[in-house]
Amino acid sequence: QANLVTIDQIDADDALALIDEAQAFKAGKQVTLKKPAYAMNLFFENSTRTKTSFQMAEMKLGMQVLNFNASTSSVTKGESLYDTLKTVESIGVNVAVVRHPQTGYYQDLLNRKNLNIGLVNAGDGTGQHPSQCLLDMMTIYEQFNHFKGLKVMIIGDIRHSRVARSNAEMLWKLGADVYFSGPKDWADPQLEKYGQHGGFEELLPKMDVINLLRVQHERISGDANASFNAETYRQQFGLTDERVNQLKKDAIILHPGPVNRGVEIDDDLVESEHSRIFTQMQNGVFVRMAILSRMLRFQNFL
Ligand code: CP
Repeated sequence: QANLVTIDQIDADDALALIDEAQAFKAGKQVTLKKPAYAMNLFFENSTRTKTSFQMAEMKLGMQVLNFNASTSSVTKGESLYDTLKTVESIGVNVAVVRHPQTGYYQDLLNRKNLNIGLVNAGDGTGQHPSQCLLDMMTIYEQFNHFKGLKVMIIGDIRHSRVARSNAEMLWKLGADVYFSGPKDWADPQLEKYGQHGGFEELLPKMDVINLLRVQHERISGDANASFNAETYRQQFGLTDERVNQLKKDAIILHPGPVNRGVEIDDDLVESEHSRIFTQMQNGVFVRMAILSRMLRFQNFL
């Protein structure tokens, strides 16, 4: 695969193959590169998990990782993303992992036929987050060993969430039953082809997977018209110590992080028996190894 920019590129069989490969890496599979391969992680938006997880995956695959700092790069002098990538390609980088605030930033890059670098989208604005999606799928698959008929509720700011967009589509392709919940103003009618909206309290006891989303404080603080603040959100849509008792015995809790403890989930539930939040982070390394190794095979490094 030359690039991975949107979950549209991955069908159900592909997703299962990537999960299988990621599970092999988790079980200790190692690879040897035929020749040196170079990666660069270009993050124009902040990140803890995705950036370090890609770095770890690259290092575990034996790639050399070059530093890139957006705030000290020539992007600050007006250099375009295309010219930045063309530059690092010319210097010898083989795979670029890019996070950028512009939704669909990759479209312009792919339309230009001259870019010969593997491109992985690590999150674009409110668009897509394919590697997060695949690590979420791996975490669900590890628990249930299938997707067909699993009931998954995605809760929160659906409209602005790239995780919700990628996960809803992939879960639908894999045969899960998708539900959405959260404030009405944060719903996204465009995603309703993948699942239906429902009441949080009513759906909670029926779900196999509770996929929480981060409350994006930056969207609600300072907005006089915002219908929610952290406390009203917790009261209506937070997974609290009281509500957790309604979950099925083997239901799991996912959250892409960073977590607002005490807002979308109560503090002690983050590391509770139901939670797979830190397993998601662990699986992220192996899923990213699977994504990158596909790209390295395509470029004849493996
Ligand atoms: N889940 C996620 O994308 O986290 P970061 O923003 O820390 O990378």
